[in-house]
Amino acid sequence: LERGPLAGLRVLVTAGPTREAIDPVRYISNRSSGRMGYAVAQACREAGAEVVLVSGPTALAPPPGVRLVRVESAAEMLAAVEAEVDACAIFIAAAAVADYRPAETAPAKIKKRAQRLGLELVRNPDILATVARRRPRPFVVGFAAETEAVEANARAKLAAKGLDLVAANRVGPGIGFDREDNELTLIWEDGAEPLGRASKLELARRLVARIAERHGARDPA
Ligand code: PMT
Repeated sequence: LERGPLAGLRVLVTAGPTREAIDPVRYISNRSSGRMGYAVAQACREAGAEVVLVSGPTALAPPPGVRLVRVESAAEMLAAVEAEVDACAIFIAAAAVADYRPAETAPAKIKKRAQRLGLELVRNPDILATVARRRPRPFVVGFAAETEAVEANARAKLAAKGLDLVAANRVGPGIGFDREDNELTLIWEDGAEPLGRASKLELARRLVARIAERHGARDPA
């Protein structure tokens, strides 16, 4: 039998970037390595949870004991999350989902011709907001990657998307994306707590301890 503060609970975690196809050989993406989300999945597993990790393309091996679902685009990530979320008590969105995708994916490789080439983009669905709107819904934790006014912007995302908790993430040169270390501040409706600057695994363990406390307080099992 599992032990730990999340024993008996299933947790769904998203991680990594998404890739939005321009044509069969090109895509739009971002600098997310997946490390933060994989560390969160590992920390949830260590806390006794059953963990499903929905991941965009990364170079990482899944943490031991975690079920990995690989996806590529935001649309695929949303479909995978919707297929898993009903069975989950907690949803943690650490993925860096592309906000936009090409309006059309060219069926063949785009040829080099014109000196200028426009690319029209359309909004992607917001996976985190979609999960937060469900009723019933899991305990919902978002990340907020911010370069400035970190706490204020994260608080705006908490309110706009109706989240239980936000891990506000200072990002920029040397911190956040594709680094070993990170810096997080936890934000909820009537409070905030800096989790400090540390390795992603150490921060994930601190984050998961707080999630377990707050989930337990909201929903005594
Ligand atoms: O992967 P690493 O290299 O380790 O880097 C970690 C990280 C910086 C990517 C990670 O810690 C992080 O902050 N992830 C969220 C990045 C992000 O896209 O933040 P955002 O502020 O744009 O989005 C806010 C939240 O909405 C996030 O929980 C995101 O997963 C979610 N979202 C965003 C857009 C979208 N279409 N669907 C979503 O679910």
